[in-house]
Amino acid sequence: MTSLVLQGVSKRFGGLQAVSPFNMEIARGKITGLIGPNGAGKTTVVNLITGVYKLSQGSIRFGDVDLTEAPRHEVARAGLARTYQTIRLLPDATVVANVMIGMYRHQKTSLVSQLFGLPSSRAETARFRDEVFSLLDRFGMTRYADYPAGSLSYGDQRRVEMMRALALKPQVLLLDEPVAGINEVEAARLGEIFRDLATEGDGMAVLLIEHNMRFVTNLCDYVYVLDGGVLIAQGTAAQVVNDPVVITAYLGDDEDA
Ligand SMILES: Nc1ncnc2c1ncn2[C@@H]1O[C@H](COP(=O)(O)OP(=O)(O)O)[C@@H](O)[C@H]1O
Ligand SMILES: [Mg+2]
Repeated sequence: MTSLVLQGVSKRFGGLQAVSPFNMEIARGKITGLIGPNGAGKTTVVNLITGVYKLSQGSIRFGDVDLTEAPRHEVARAGLARTYQTIRLLPDATVVANVMIGMYRHQKTSLVSQLFGLPSSRAETARFRDEVFSLLDRFGMTRYADYPAGSLSYGDQRRVEMMRALALKPQVLLLDEPVAGINEVEAARLGEIFRDLATEGDGMAVLLIEHNMRFVTNLCDYVYVLDGGVLIAQGTAAQVVNDPVVITAYLGDDEDA
């Protein structure tokens, strides 16, 4: 099955080695975890994968597609989508509009011309709307369809972000701390959605960045652990949580008892 494969990938910001060369495989049909204390380099990895930052070294491939130097729109076209650690929504636009932006973002025609323009695009717009409503249904957000995104609770804004990423029907979904600040019950419900995304149909490749160890170990098939930009462990969840090196990295990290 197609995987996203990082080989010898590293990133240096001036004098700071944010990510030291490491290998990672994010496989379809699986949830791959990427954990580590604050400043470990987790978000930088997502920014490297998605073409936000240029790699200092190494290569990135998704199946036959070389993404090493691909700009963001090419990465999206190859089937990769992400969410952000810090919510990025249009607060005054409705939930539906925010999710639809995910669909249009990488199309040739602009959002405006699609919505108000040619009759030929109206059928497509209607189809997109149906797809948005099936996403809303999946996330239990149907009743908020026409609410301004900015009026929603923090957890619901996170859901809008996830739906916007999913609107592109990605093959690879990169989630940067999607359940941070969300209570355990809601997080578990989202975890079930992530699990379904990985296992249904052709199986999405899901990368889950998370600080909370328990959430990761319940959900992930395979886990990578970064600390100070260095890959200090990898393996099944059971293997990494019992690894003394990992335990030491997390000690004194009060957020995660
Ligand atoms: N654009 C940037 N310029 C300079 N330093 C950066 C930049 N982005 C991240 N860093 C640094 O790289 C390190 C890793 O950051 P980050 O990937 O955000 O960690 P994490 O997501 O694991 O908390 C940190 O020391 C951070 O300050
Ligand atoms: Mg981060």
